[in-house]
Amino acid sequence: MTNRIFNFSAGPAVLPLPVLEQAQRDLIALPGVGMSILEISHRSAPFEQVIQTAEKNLRSLLGVPEDYAVLFLQGGATLQFAMVPMNLLPAGASADYVLTGSWGQSAFKEAKKFGTVRVACSTESDNFSRIPRQEELSADPKAAYLHYTSNETIHGTEFDYTPAAPAGVPLVCDSSSDFLSRPIDVARHGLIYAGAQKNAGPAGVTVVIVRKDLLGRAPASTPVMLDYAAMAKAGSLHNTPPCFSIYVVGLVLEWLVGLGGLEAVARRNREKAKLLYDAIDSSGGFYRGHSRPECRSLMNVTFRLPTEELEKKFAKESTAAGLDGLKGHRSVGGLRASIYNAFPIEGVARLVEFMQDFRQKNG
Ligand SMILES: Cc1ncc(COP(=O)(O)O)c(C=O)c1O
Repeated sequence: MTNRIFNFSAGPAVLPLPVLEQAQRDLIALPGVGMSILEISHRSAPFEQVIQTAEKNLRSLLGVPEDYAVLFLQGGATLQFAMVPMNLLPAGASADYVLTGSWGQSAFKEAKKFGTVRVACSTESDNFSRIPRQEELSADPKAAYLHYTSNETIHGTEFDYTPAAPAGVPLVCDSSSDFLSRPIDVARHGLIYAGAQKNAGPAGVTVVIVRKDLLGRAPASTPVMLDYAAMAKAGSLHNTPPCFSIYVVGLVLEWLVGLGGLEAVARRNREKAKLLYDAIDSSGGFYRGHSRPECRSLMNVTFRLPTEELEKKFAKESTAAGLDGLKGHRSVGGLRASIYNAFPIEGVARLVEFMQDFRQKNG
């Protein structure tokens, strides 16, 4: 149990140890049920309890208003790239996208298959190293919705504000990599989605929070599994859901409640990220952050070294030192430390030590 290493993976990512321990304890038989969560019917009372408690805790942590549905879906955030336009982009209308990195681009590219999409703003000419300010968004007041990515996992940039959409235009957020890392104003959004496998649990389930008046807009030809209204009506149980993933998400939510809620979680995350960014900023230019300082992600810390050879060496030696998953995404290069909610501060401190030592030897 004690031989766990520090896991900086961008996702699937580190889970809280107490969650893993409880899942392990309950794997053979859920207390009072006598069967594993892997074996029980999704229509059984114990599973109903699991999914309802998860929804209740999610609602209380994020302050989800009553007029929003919470869905547990499959297909990852990537399926949401298609489901959002399938449900919310009627024929003849146009949707706006804010492009701040690879994930926003992927969402945009997928939506194009379903109708007219427009770029409300792109930071590509700055190598996706920054988040635009509100004044830079040229949002269409008639758009079917305005889509943004609150945290760009690959580039390591994060919105520090909720973009304002024109009156009546639903704001849609891909929150996959900063979901539950800090409070968000759900009521300012029409829809929020997040693949669970970074901050909320294991792979296999995607959380969607959608304002109820946006349900029922999909064309009749929409497959039932891709229709938010049908999934909401069935309480996410139209068919067999990813029961185990939902159960683990439920444990993560309980862990977050136990930490004192999302304000407390955000404080921890700020503290962890500061340690790492301070190490970059005080390295005399040996480490260079990819993101502009004011746009830095608290979840994915991306940085470069003076040469690619040194970056390779850093990745190799850090892995050998028990710091796993630091190699950056191939499209940006360099290094990336993903320090989601469950990543312990001791691991950040170990990385900072390693960085100082590496610079001394190679600087
Ligand atoms: C911001 C963001 N959006 C979407 C995705 C795609 O998620 P999935 O693999 O669940 O489809 C990712 C995955 O890393 C992501 O970081």
